[in-house]
Amino acid sequence: MAPTAEAAAAFIEQAEFVWHQRYELAAGVWTPGVSDIPWLCRAAGLPDDLSGRTVLDVGTTNAGTAFELERRGAERVVAVDIFDPDWFGVRALTEFLGSSVEYVQTSVYELADRFAEPFDLVIFWGVLYHLRHPLLALDNLRAVTRGEASLETAVCDGELPRRQRDRSLSRFYRRDELSDDPSNWFAPTTVALEEWCGSSGFGVERLGAWPRSGAARAMLRLWPTEGPAEYEQLSYERPLRCTVA
Ligand SMILES: C[S@@+](CC[C@H](N)C(=O)[O-])C[C@H]1O[C@@H](n2cnc3c(N)ncnc32)[C@H](O)[C@@H]1O
Repeated sequence: MAPTAEAAAAFIEQAEFVWHQRYELAAGVWTPGVSDIPWLCRAAGLPDDLSGRTVLDVGTTNAGTAFELERRGAERVVAVDIFDPDWFGVRALTEFLGSSVEYVQTSVYELADRFAEPFDLVIFWGVLYHLRHPLLALDNLRAVTRGEASLETAVCDGELPRRQRDRSLSRFYRRDELSDDPSNWFAPTTVALEEWCGSSGFGVERLGAWPRSGAARAMLRLWPTEGPAEYEQLSYERPLRCTVA
C-alpha cells in the first residue's frame, strides 16, 4: 500500500542522509533535493509503460528514478551507486515504499563484470562529469545495454566562443573549476559527447542541450550498434575489465 502523506512528511523530517533528488514520495509530498526527477524523465522521453522491461539506474543517489521506473511497470529495476545503501537513504526508502528495487553497491567501471545479463533500459544521469575515466564508463555502459541508454551530463559549449562549439573538444577541470566542485573532471562539447558515445559503440540521438544560449548540460538517447564497438574496429584498444573482488 502506498504510504500516506503524513507518513512521508515524517519520513523526510527524520531522515539524516543527504537529499540530492526531488521526487514525490507520497501524494503532494516532495523530497527536498535539487535534481528534478519528473523533469529529467520528461527530457529523456522515457515511456510511461515499462511493463516487462528490465532497468538499470547507474549513480542512483536517492533512487528516485529507480522508484519512478518501477512505478511505470518495469519487471526488474536495479539501482547502483558507489556508496553503501544507507549513505543516500536507499535502504530506508526502499523499505518505506515497499519497493522491490534491488540495490547494488558498485562502480560504473565494474558494470560489465557485475552483470552478465544486459538491461532493456539503462539510466546514466549526472554521473559522467564526476569520472576521471569517462570513456571506460561509456564502454561499460554499452556492455550492459541491450535496448537503450539515457545519458545526461555536463557539457562545455557555453564556456567556449560560438565558433568553437561545434568542434569535438573537451574541458578538463583539474581542481574545482566546474561549479566549485573538485569531484568534477570532464565536460566535453555536446558534439564531443556524441563522438565519445559513437566511439564506444552507441548510436546517438541528441534529445536536448540547455540553456540554448550556450549549453551546460545535454541529454542523449543511445542504443548499442551491431558487432564490436567502433573503437575496437579502428584500434588495438580492447575492453578493459575491472575485476570485482
Ligand atoms: C550528481 S549525482 C546524480 C544522481 C542521479 N543520477 C540524478 O541524476 O539525480 C552523481 C551520483 O553518481 C554517483 N557516482 C559517482 N561516481 C560513480 C561511479 N564511479 N559509479 C557509479 N556511481 C557513481 C554518486 O555517488 C552520486 O550518487
